Amino acid sequence: QVHVQRHVLTAGGAQQRLDGLDRDGHVGHLLVERLPAREGQQARYDGIDKYVEAGIASARRASSLTQRLLAFSRRQALDQKVSDVSVSIQAVEPLLRTTCGENVALNVHLPDALWRVRTDTHQFESALLNLAINARDAMPDGGSLSLRARNMPLSADELAGTDLAPGDYVEVSVADTGVGMPPEVVSRAFDPFFTTKPIGQGTGLGLSMVYGYIRQSGGYVLIDSREGAGTTVRMRLPRATEDIAPEAATSDAPAETGQRGQRVLVAEDDEVVRMLVVDLLRDRGYVVVEAVDGTQAMAILAQPTHFDILLTDVGLPGPNGRQVADYARERMPAIRVLLMTGYAAQAATDAHFLGHEMALIVKPFDPDALIRKVAGL
Ligand SMILES: Nc1ncnc2c1ncn2[C@@H]1O[C@H](COP(=O)(O)OP(=O)(O)OP(=O)(O)O)[C@@H](O)[C@H]1O
Ligand SMILES: [Mg+2]
Repeated sequence: QVHVQRHVLTAGGAQQRLDGLDRDGHVGHLLVERLPAREGQQARYDGIDKYVEAGIASARRASSLTQRLLAFSRRQALDQKVSDVSVSIQAVEPLLRTTCGENVALNVHLPDALWRVRTDTHQFESALLNLAINARDAMPDGGSLSLRARNMPLSADELAGTDLAPGDYVEVSVADTGVGMPPEVVSRAFDPFFTTKPIGQGTGLGLSMVYGYIRQSGGYVLIDSREGAGTTVRMRLPRATEDIAPEAATSDAPAETGQRGQRVLVAEDDEVVRMLVVDLLRDRGYVVVEAVDGTQAMAILAQPTHFDILLTDVGLPGPNGRQVADYARERMPAIRVLLMTGYAAQAATDAHFLGHEMALIVKPFDPDALIRKVAGL
């Protein structure tokens, strides 16, 4: 399909944009956005959408697989913020309802005042979705799924067997009335690639993702299950003491105004990604300067020209994105920084990698997500 598409697009002179599709699934999004803009060539692109969509869908699947593996190995870059997980639960509730189907009754119980936790809400939502899919699969003839969040102070006794300190936790549990698990399945359920599902149906990464992500957030996960008696998975996250991040309250509406004319330095070594990100920002009225690696980025920053925003890949050749960001801060203390990363093993191993007031966006990202993130810096 990509072949057909390339052929057609070559005719349209857009070969360059296509080259990235095989390598970087995310450029597919940008392609879709940019194609209709080419007026007068519309006829050539008719019917191409479905090929592009197919390319995006397969790239998404690959990306979600990679992210689940990284989650398990706890090497993903978490975008942690103080947040109210009941907001996330309400946000994914419609999706969970569709996922579970008509035969499963979904009940959601949220307290009025849930303590805050420090976590990556995107990962939290993926974890919920993974648990809901497992629950649905365990209830082929229907049943009920209960999603509950509550505040939970835990004593040292209650935390025996874990490496966690006594204190306040938030528990989010997902309970089903499905087939349940025998003890030998419970004991292996978190293992990556452990699945009891037929070949092609389960990768065995759902619970390992949940486990890795919760551990990386300083919490732990428990499974209560008996054969024939349903399953409850409990995720417990430590209560956050800080106040909620102001960012968490911003709306999803793309900020269009007030950004025009702002100067952005984009440092990205992947030519296709850089070109598309630059095009996207220019379309929205930003003034963009590009750098192909860390050395060039620093040379540009050494000039007297002022920048409002630095958008840099983490894994740059030469000085890495964080070093570029630190240098930019030294030169222009008010500069806003957004780091882009595919996996950021480094960021995860060193929790302080993300410096003060630096935001992170994980590739692949949608154009809208990038624009929102840049506008919200
Ligand atoms: N709610 C549940 N009820 C019964 N068994 C479960 C439940 N959740 C998980 N399991 C068991 O644990 C195994 C591992 O779950 P996990 O989510 O890690 O992988 P999977 O669901 O098999 O595949 P994937 O999530 O990658 O599609 C499942 O195959 C199943 O045997
Ligand atoms: Mg699963």
